[in-house]
Amino acid sequence: MELVSASLLLLCLCCILLASAWKSRDQRGQLPPGPAPLPLLGNFLQLDRTNVIHSLEKLREKYGPVFTVHLGSRRVVVLCGYQAVKEALVDQAEEFSGRGQIPAFSKDFNEHGVVFANGERWRQLRRFSLTTLRNFGMGKRSIEERIQEEAQCLVEELWKTQGAPFDPIFNLSQAISNIICSIVFGNRFDYEDEKFITLNKLIFTRFRTLIPLYNAFPGILEKIPGPHHVGSKCSQEIISFISERIKLQQATLDLNAPQNFIDCFLAKMEQEKQNPSTEFSMENLVMSTFNLFFAGTETVSTTLRYGFLILLKHPQVQEKIHQEIDAVIGRERAPTVEDRGRMPYTDATLHEIQRFSDILPMSLPHTVTRDTRFRGYLIPEGTYVYPLLSTVHFDLEEHKTPEAFAPERFLSENGCFKKQNAFLPFSAGKRACLGEGLARMELFLFFTTVLQRFALRSPVAPEQLSLAPDVSNFGKVPQRYQLCLRQR
Ligand code: HEM
Repeated sequence: MELVSASLLLLCLCCILLASAWKSRDQRGQLPPGPAPLPLLGNFLQLDRTNVIHSLEKLREKYGPVFTVHLGSRRVVVLCGYQAVKEALVDQAEEFSGRGQIPAFSKDFNEHGVVFANGERWRQLRRFSLTTLRNFGMGKRSIEERIQEEAQCLVEELWKTQGAPFDPIFNLSQAISNIICSIVFGNRFDYEDEKFITLNKLIFTRFRTLIPLYNAFPGILEKIPGPHHVGSKCSQEIISFISERIKLQQATLDLNAPQNFIDCFLAKMEQEKQNPSTEFSMENLVMSTFNLFFAGTETVSTTLRYGFLILLKHPQVQEKIHQEIDAVIGRERAPTVEDRGRMPYTDATLHEIQRFSDILPMSLPHTVTRDTRFRGYLIPEGTYVYPLLSTVHFDLEEHKTPEAFAPERFLSENGCFKKQNAFLPFSAGKRACLGEGLARMELFLFFTTVLQRFALRSPVAPEQLSLAPDVSNFGKVPQRYQLCLRQR
């Protein structure tokens, strides 16, 4: 009797396995083409672990602009080139609006906070974050004024270098970080403040410890000791710093006069405390604050750092910007956002810096929110989607000589600013960067304020400087370099 039941059980198991194998074969038939995966490893052995993005671009040559790869056991649909990315993120915005997780972050965020949330949680947190950022931009002390003040603090700090060569990496990230600090905590920090220095070092290290191997095999690597745990330790320290600040602000909160992002969130939590399904919880507050720090500090400061390096390599571009600053702003007053409209060459250069530096080449992972028909394929609900922004920024069908740095591509024949479609540093669609307005304001004001005061020089000849990125996975960063400043 026991033998019969065991045989029956075995038979049932075989049927289930066969059915699921058939189903997955069937689904694969309708998915975009791609290399055959190995069990558990997927296509990992076909990818260069030090430059995943480059490996994906190579696969495109073989399989076309939309293809499927397996990173470990995870199936990912990759989108290449402006047309495919736009058709997905813009024309089918709702279907492609899910957020995929980055395993190296999942332990920290647990799908909380606006960046990694999905469904109703994401909708509520996104709406709230956008409104709050916008409101602070219109308050008594606008974000523009705050950025102008911080840019002056940065200039004073840079003054201290007295023309000697230095690496601008920490000066820039501290200045940019202070803008987010003003928005979320309501105050800036002194550049010498020990806690602030530590916080910025933690964010810096966290950004650089996203190891592709961990993202492909999180289950196994989690159990093995090693350097891949450093990132998570940094996150825990950042979370403690934020939680401490929230506690302090909770103690002095005036519900009728919230002063910053955290105050507004705490007020919303109070308002919604009777709602059992509210998303305005402490966990979402801590994680959204962390998100704003992380998304808002490294991105802008990396772009500026790349921008200054590009100017060292192309002194003639710097020269033209200096001339435009002198003609439109002069040397006395601080640059304002309004000036941008009258400075097409500077505007074009900033766009070209963002296109060329391409700091988030794979954007952030998306998922499809339902079974989705796309270009004749059927992508099952929950499938991961990587829109490769690098293939938009270096799309040969959209840009002439995309490898060259040329602000002129953003200028019309009569010198006016000219838009380009294939320019998506902030991505597009429902998940597009929610800090775009702030980031653009920061880039323009910091860039022009520094260039109004200083001429940038490299201690080595421009030919010796390389614009190739240092890390080319989740994020591209410029190689470390030295900068000398001469007062203008
Ligand atoms: C040069 C600066 C910046 C660049 C290039 C950039 C780029 C991006 C990109 C590519 C994404 C992913 C979009 C997608 O999934 O399709 C993103 C998302 C996001 N960014 Fe930015 N970003 C910048 C600055 C900022 C700033 C200053 C903030 C903070 C105020 C910010 C907050 C966010 C948030 C919260 C998300 C997640 C949006 C969501 O999932 O709904 N970013 N950003």
